[in-house]
Amino acid sequence: MVTRNDVIKTLEGVRDPELGGNIVELGMVTDVDITGASVEVGIALTVAECPLRNQIENDTRRRVQAIPGVDHVDVRTTAMTKKQRAGLMSVARAKARASAEPTQVSPTTRVIAIGSGKGGVGKSSIAVNVAVAMSQAGFRVGLLDADIWGFSTPRMLGVEDRLEANEDSKLIVPVEAKGVKLVSTGLIIETEETALMWRGLMLSKALEQFLKQVEWGELDYLIIDLPPGTGDIQMALTRMLPQAEMVVVTTPQRAAQKVAVRVADMARRSHMPVVGVIENMAGLACACGRVHDVFGEGGGRELADDLGVPLIASIPLDPEVVPGGDHGAPVVTSSTGSPAGIAMRDAAARLVELVPPADLETCTGRIAKILTELEELPA
Ligand SMILES: Nc1ncnc2c1ncn2[C@@H]1O[C@H](COP(=O)(O)OP(=O)(O)OP(=O)(O)O)[C@@H](O)[C@H]1O
Ligand SMILES: [Mg+2]
Repeated sequence: MVTRNDVIKTLEGVRDPELGGNIVELGMVTDVDITGASVEVGIALTVAECPLRNQIENDTRRRVQAIPGVDHVDVRTTAMTKKQRAGLMSVARAKARASAEPTQVSPTTRVIAIGSGKGGVGKSSIAVNVAVAMSQAGFRVGLLDADIWGFSTPRMLGVEDRLEANEDSKLIVPVEAKGVKLVSTGLIIETEETALMWRGLMLSKALEQFLKQVEWGELDYLIIDLPPGTGDIQMALTRMLPQAEMVVVTTPQRAAQKVAVRVADMARRSHMPVVGVIENMAGLACACGRVHDVFGEGGGRELADDLGVPLIASIPLDPEVVPGGDHGAPVVTSSTGSPAGIAMRDAAARLVELVPPADLETCTGRIAKILTELEELPA
């Protein structure tokens, strides 16, 4: 049974990128009607020709569609009355005033967390390659390594630098590698001793620091490499970054699926929509001309169908992934036509389609100017 509360909680993840608040707190959700598995959502936009209309509509539809038990979503938009607008403006103003931004991640940044039930299925390889591929495609991309103790992204990107703070802002500046802004505990820890020192201090706080004390700047995408399984990090993420969405990685082995479903369940319970599934370590194309399904076959499709989400990509086993990851040469930068590299690039392109970047033209964050414009509108 879909409840009104499920829908409202989900809608709290839809943001008006210009006003920097979610559509529920901004009073833009006018009604929610649930009839069986159909949900109708009424949204009042600040102006009928709101440039962000499509984005808000699409986000709403995609998120509500991802609630278990929902199979049809209707989004109706209307223009706000002067009175509704006045209410919205006071909320937006209060938010702007209190603009002790809860995190340094801009509300216009699309956040995609890469998770899995089992360890070692290729989350980090995918996070790194997708981030680099998105950057190659011209997007501004950050990569947050949320695998606090099992970090692997610095090695995969070949980074030796350490994180430093900006003298003025006192915020930590990410290290730039292959066009991607990277933050990882691997860029802090020098020796085993410092590792131990950080351990107690940071385990609970690390993710929070990475979101609140890092100068991420304006990014189109923030990719988050999660540790395996369900846990505190995933919970903390949904709390601090309500706009986060999840991609579930699985191997083609059908038995792996049950474990993967648990991560997706957990994501959904905390109202983090699942964008889709990426299958990794699929058939290895052999020089003999045959394809060897080392880890079985069909698991990705089955999981995607189970969850009612798209299969974003199926990435083949490819010997080039391993040395690429060990020597800081992600396969998407390979010039040898690596099959995994091509599939990773396709995965990134498909993700951009599914989670398009916020409309940059209109997302200048100049809330004051927008409010003035709204104020001048006729009733
Ligand atoms: N498509 C692939 N072909 C061949 N090797 C791969 C592929 N994907 C990942 N690997 C290799 O598998 C190993 C595990 O990958 P990776 O570290 O990305 O997984 P993970 O899910 O992040 O693991 P963990 O759960 O430990 O964080 C690495 O050695 C990586 O190089
Ligand atoms: Mg990993």
